[in-house]
Amino acid sequence: RADRRAARLEMGDPLDRSAALLRGARAACAFTGAGVSTESGIPDFRSAGGLWRGVDPMAVASIQGFEHEPDRFYAFWRWRHGVLQSAKPNAVHRWLAALEAGGRLRGVVTQNIDGLHRLAGSRAVHELHGCFRQARCDGCAHRCAIETALAASQAPGGPRCPDCGARLRPDVTLFGELLPPAFDDAVEALSDCDLLLVLGTSLSVYPAAQLVPHVREGGGAVVLVNAEPTPMDALAEVAIHGQLGQVAAALGARAA
Ligand code: APR
Repeated sequence: RADRRAARLEMGDPLDRSAALLRGARAACAFTGAGVSTESGIPDFRSAGGLWRGVDPMAVASIQGFEHEPDRFYAFWRWRHGVLQSAKPNAVHRWLAALEAGGRLRGVVTQNIDGLHRLAGSRAVHELHGCFRQARCDGCAHRCAIETALAASQAPGGPRCPDCGARLRPDVTLFGELLPPAFDDAVEALSDCDLLLVLGTSLSVYPAAQLVPHVREGGGAVVLVNAEPTPMDALAEVAIHGQLGQVAAALGARAA
């Protein structure tokens, strides 16, 4: 009985251990995925109610879809804009912004395109897959609000650039495309990270997922919080399978 108690004390409560790691970190960073935004009403991609359960990402979120199926591509992005633009930051976004404001977190690297980390007040945000709030031209440096592009998206072949006539597209990384410079900035920003909070991602998309072993190879520790197991749970000092809203509240209560 004493052994079992000792074993439990040695293991310690995952939340206490996560809070202690966060308190002791010199350069903590967060790495987030769609799971941090589901409590804002934005479906994720691969869990039971996920977006890719009902829609083929290769048709609506790939460079091939943009080039060869413009009507289907833009119908999806008009629908997605409706969901994203009405979403508000939730307690998880606010917790990360508060940690940054309090000097406990360097910033956030996110795979999300919903812009909710910035809306919640996070300042150092690396958007690896871009942000849906803008559109860009496929042929020149023209940029505009996504609403402008979507308003013209029912024209045959989709919206055109007013400057050069090439096609306009959401300023996000589509499947089959290289990541923007934000990825290199994130790799640099994480080079001395001593604690990575990996939150709400299935870690199934590369090269974004590579950031987790990158931090480990640099000597950093990983705390992973996700509703479901991930392929990288074994890389984590602490892997917590639970709802992020609850875990953020519990860690906040431990003043982590
Ligand atoms: N609390 C904790 N975990 C959650 C919650 C929640 N409230 N809601 C969802 N999750 C978990 C899900 O169980 C799932 O494992 O978040 C994870 C989200 O995984 P994905 O849906 O695969 O999303 P993500 O990892 O961000 O996808 C990466 O894939 O489609 C591309 O570009 C897109 O950025 C996206 C990338």
